[in-house]
Amino acid sequence: MTNILLTGGAGYIGSHTYVALVSAGYRPIILDDYSNSHPGVIARLEDITGQPVAHVRGSVLDVAMVSALIEQHAVQAVLHFAGFKAVGESVAEPLKYFDNNITGTVRLMQAMERAGCRALVFSSSATVYGDPAAVPITEAFPLAHTSPYGYSKIACEHIIAAMLAAKPDWHASVLRYFNPVGAHPSGLIGESPQGVPNNLMPYVAQVATGKRAHLNVWGADYPTPDGTGLRDYIHVMDLAEGHVAALDALLQTGRSFTVNLGTGAGHSVLEVVRAFSLACGHAVPYKICERRPGDIAQCYADATLALQLLGWRAQRTLADMCADTWRWQSRNPDGYHEAAIA
Ligand code: UFG
Repeated sequence: MTNILLTGGAGYIGSHTYVALVSAGYRPIILDDYSNSHPGVIARLEDITGQPVAHVRGSVLDVAMVSALIEQHAVQAVLHFAGFKAVGESVAEPLKYFDNNITGTVRLMQAMERAGCRALVFSSSATVYGDPAAVPITEAFPLAHTSPYGYSKIACEHIIAAMLAAKPDWHASVLRYFNPVGAHPSGLIGESPQGVPNNLMPYVAQVATGKRAHLNVWGADYPTPDGTGLRDYIHVMDLAEGHVAALDALLQTGRSFTVNLGTGAGHSVLEVVRAFSLACGHAVPYKICERRPGDIAQCYADATLALQLLGWRAQRTLADMCADTWRWQSRNPDGYHEAAIA
């Protein structure tokens, strides 16, 4: 059995990747400080996998604790999900983002170096492409940041590249996520945002349950077919399986790589609204509003490198993403709020 450490493993993408890793025969260990997640997810993961979940409460900033954890479990690779991800919050609280996202990555790599574990899978984002000059976006596009959050992801990519250049025994897989949505088909785990959701799918899901009156569509005058923003929504279980494929490749070949994880197709806001209405069986009310500052018209991946390098491609449709989000949201209208504390 290969032991894998998941920092931020109780969060949205980490918890779904946990399930995919167990299915693939890995033994994941969760490290999370629950600053943007809920301990109730642990019991749900035990329900899904039928096995006890190894989990530790703590921060990636604690080098001594993390290196001891890696040694204790003979961890072979680290999947680093423990980053903050709200663009607007990063503009208001840049130091919070630089500390957790940049310092957190440096400290994690120090702990790995100390413990002799030198394989890292890093959660990057399509935000590193800024406002792209064209679509679809290949990995060769120039990097640009439009927020402290975006800056933090680019900085981490540079830090990882510098380590790879300096230390031949390190290898890393940098995964640039497009727009992760959906939930595990069991309806037991899903996205559980604190407060008002910033992202489209969780907001639509809360309108569908009646928790919010209507969706604000941020702009219908973009140069896209229906005027609303176009994004590459990817089912979180496809994304989770992409991590397994990346980890397999990293451990088998020892070669480092940076790759987009997207579907290669864009969907507009109104397409998402229509697909969600079909999934939940009733209309999702919306109002067209002014553009949201900082938004771009369109963003979708060229997904060919992931297929070539990893033999992985996203399988699930927009209808699947909406059906699984709806199952999770309708069964857990308050997310993990009422789940048992593990
Ligand atoms: N949108 C609405 N109403 C809402 C929320 C979103 O109309 O209430 C629209 C946006 O204008 C955009 C689309 O839905 O056209 C998607 O918006 P999201 O906020 O869900 O996602 P973004 O593409 O803006 O941002 C996401 C991540 C960021 C990441 C970025 C680029 O949230 O962390 O993708 O990868 F930086």
